[in-house]
Amino acid sequence: MIYIYLFLIVILVIGAAIFLWFLIWTVIIGDLRGAPFVASRRNKIRLMCDLAQIRPGMAVADLGSGDGSILLEAARRGAKAIGLEINPFLVWFSRLRAKRRGLHEKITVLRRDFYTYPLDKIDVIFVYLWPETMKKLREKFLSECRPGTRIVSNAFPIKGWRAIMEKEGVYVYEIKNAQNPDTHKT
Ligand SMILES: C[S@@+](CC[C@H](N)C(=O)[O-])C[C@H]1O[C@@H](n2cnc3c(N)ncnc32)[C@H](O)[C@@H]1O
Repeated sequence: MIYIYLFLIVILVIGAAIFLWFLIWTVIIGDLRGAPFVASRRNKIRLMCDLAQIRPGMAVADLGSGDGSILLEAARRGAKAIGLEINPFLVWFSRLRAKRRGLHEKITVLRRDFYTYPLDKIDVIFVYLWPETMKKLREKFLSECRPGTRIVSNAFPIKGWRAIMEKEGVYVYEIKNAQNPDTHKT
């Protein structure tokens, strides 16, 4: 009998440790590095993909891809989607979802800090991040993105940049001329 109790205690402790680890990654580390995990709503994801004008063959990236829902929608529309996510649980979860939906050949999820990923081959960039994080990303966008690259932000505008479209709290920006940041200023 004592062994059963011991076994149950061990299982409980392991479960609690995994849960705590998950919470630390999802709330604290995510927040410190760019934004905590909060999934974009389904109707927002559709709107973001509509406004991005995704076409088959396009390369899209979600910076902080969370549970992979944006990647799934983009891949369903024929895009090649890459997710950059620091939270290991969310990376595995979104890979699993892509596999279960048969979209794994169109979706890549990397456990990687998005600041370190080169954006020069990406046509559409999705973000749902704190305004301060996007402010830090502006220089990266300007120095790496090709003219014509669209940046689609859920909920928060990019400070100091002029959106080419805004609908229901989704902001769309287009890199006009990477050498000339003034084209983006409000
Ligand atoms: C608000 S959630 C957005 C999730 C998803 N893009 C969506 O719209 O449903 C932000 C995500 O960014 C991730 N994140 C934060 N900072 C990051 C960084 N520096 N590199 C990669 N991922 C990051 C967090 O772990 C979290 O999952």
